[in-house]
Amino acid sequence: MPNVTCPYSPCCFPGRQAYTAFLPSCMANAGREEEFRNSLEAGSPVMRHSIDLSLPKRIPRTPEKPLPFIRYVLQHCSPGMKWQAGAAYLFEIISTAADTLVTWALGRIVGVIATAGDRLWEKVTYELLILAGLWTLRNISYRCREYMERHYVPELLNTTRALLFARLIQQSQAFLHANFAGVLANHVRRAGDVISGLRDKMQYSIIPLAVRFVTAGVLLWGITPQFALFIPGFLVVGAICAVLTAPKWTMLSLQQAEKSSLLTGYIVDSTTNLSIVQQNVGWREELNRLDHAQDQMTQTFVNRLRWVSWFWGIFDTIMTFFLCGFMALVVHGWQQGNVSTAQLAMTVGLSMNLFGAIAGTVNLLSSKFDDIGILQEALHKISTPLSILDKPGAPDLQVVQGAIDFRDVDFSYIPGQPVFEKLNLFIPAGQRVGLVGVSGAGKSTLCHLLLRAHDVTGGGIYIDGQNIAEVTQDSLHASISVIPQEPVLFHRTLGENIRYGRLAATPAEVESAARAAEAQNFIATMPKGYDTLVGERGVKLSGGQRQRIAIARAIIKDAPVLVLDEATSALDSETEKAIQSAMMHAMEGRTTVVIAHRLSTLSHMDRIVVMEHGRVIEDGSFEDLLAHGGVFARLWKLQAGGFLPDALPQAVGQ
Ligand SMILES: Nc1ncnc2c1ncn2[C@@H]1O[C@H](COP(=O)(O)OP(=O)(O)OP(=O)(O)O)[C@@H](O)[C@H]1O
Ligand SMILES: [Mg+2]
Repeated sequence: MPNVTCPYSPCCFPGRQAYTAFLPSCMANAGREEEFRNSLEAGSPVMRHSIDLSLPKRIPRTPEKPLPFIRYVLQHCSPGMKWQAGAAYLFEIISTAADTLVTWALGRIVGVIATAGDRLWEKVTYELLILAGLWTLRNISYRCREYMERHYVPELLNTTRALLFARLIQQSQAFLHANFAGVLANHVRRAGDVISGLRDKMQYSIIPLAVRFVTAGVLLWGITPQFALFIPGFLVVGAICAVLTAPKWTMLSLQQAEKSSLLTGYIVDSTTNLSIVQQNVGWREELNRLDHAQDQMTQTFVNRLRWVSWFWGIFDTIMTFFLCGFMALVVHGWQQGNVSTAQLAMTVGLSMNLFGAIAGTVNLLSSKFDDIGILQEALHKISTPLSILDKPGAPDLQVVQGAIDFRDVDFSYIPGQPVFEKLNLFIPAGQRVGLVGVSGAGKSTLCHLLLRAHDVTGGGIYIDGQNIAEVTQDSLHASISVIPQEPVLFHRTLGENIRYGRLAATPAEVESAARAAEAQNFIATMPKGYDTLVGERGVKLSGGQRQRIAIARAIIKDAPVLVLDEATSALDSETEKAIQSAMMHAMEGRTTVVIAHRLSTLSHMDRIVVMEHGRVIEDGSFEDLLAHGGVFARLWKLQAGGFLPDALPQAVGQ
């Protein structure tokens, strides 16, 4: 693996949702590194640092709890960033202390005014200079803090997002199928915002509050120690309120975050399928569903606000009694002559200052619970244990010839509903095999298992005698080129989409692959040629054009094993014929599995395997199977050069 600048610091990049939707294709092309690199290109130079990009070992399970997760993020930040963060906190402490001391300086001014007599201006000028000095110190410290923030905050946010994204792109297809792509993308984006929010709250509430209390304590102690004892009193009241209410607050916030994510996922799902909505005049249905999702979210929102109102009502009442008691004590001291006018003025200022600070802090803390709810939900989802793991110390797959062996393979998506039971299929190195069967026979699943998109539940799959479960997934994916049944493209340029098969490919190689896939002609007619953006999931291209780009991508990858799942189904016969020679060329010397419903496309295969309900029911050469007069021959007749019927049993039984 090459050394590149930090993979953990990509900036926000456009179309994150697109990444999430295409994870399988991204992984099959061993594209994790490219995802990082792309995000880096959008990143600011401020946050780059050198790190070895040896995925996936570098991305352990992300902690599920907010605090351990924050520690985990900090571990991945640069030392410079930690220094800058430390300096920012130090400047925050200095500025807050100066701010609190301003009340002390004001108190002194009041005292001087009350006692100076004729030498008023002489004395007041000195006090005003102290006040101006404190204001200046406060001002400079704030500006220094902001300078530090400009440097370390982007790295903190980007590292958070990058770590979650890195984790997400390792999740299995089963995980992706079980979740809305929009929700996952939203989790990654919002987690960064939340970390920022938590940092703000820490920096702008907890630290200033602590500094204010310490400074005020020292000033009050100077008047009388009894006054200073009120400071812990304030703290105890605030802490009791926070501790007693935290679980409820977190629970309500978590509920709101969950419903909010579902709403986002729903909107993304509807928007992605907007054409289906319009074609079926389904907008009322979609609005109804939106209403339902919004109602659920509103309910959690109202529940939380009701709770917030109650909390504040009670908290303010307690604090009012507390503050009035304190003020009465100070006035009593003044009446007894134990407290001077200057001290009285300072104490009034300080207590108002503290009351405002504690109320502001509790307010900020309340929104912190919202943040924790959002973060907890994101972490819980993205930290889902990876279902497909490399074994510790797993070697890379070494493909010398490319023989594939499915040995006694059992597999089911849903427990109790097996797709394969004791499936055996050996494909010698370099053989071109056509896989035939009606819809649902298990052809695509067989290819997914070969790519280890799912783990088999029994038996094993071997490439050149090596169990694919025992080797690294990256090396497995690098050894297999796939043209999927539904080719999807990134919302990037045509050139980038082709080059995804081999990132080091030169422009000339990209062009030659496009030519081999018969894509060159239509690319030439595009407004910006290879630099034309293809739209989300490649919507700006026809199905056949998308397939040709996917074929070019597979050609450029040049892997020893080639899998074509209905790779040419969307091509017209003429184009298909035109790329046939390129495909044959691509298959040369490679073990190839071709799934096709159009049986005529399989006439050049060395061998045809017919599947039914997850079993191999016929196996032989194209000619042998036709001559044999079995299922394949009947399908051939039924198809009359067209496609397979949808249901085999009736058709075959005749
Ligand atoms: N992600 C999934 N979760 C649950 N079941 C699935 C999933 N994918 C496929 N199946 C089921 O597994 C069986 C085999 O599906 P598969 O996609 O392998 O069929 P196929 O032979 O490729 O069909 P087609 O010719 O229509 O592409 C089907 O019954 C299908 O419903
Ligand atoms: Mg299929």
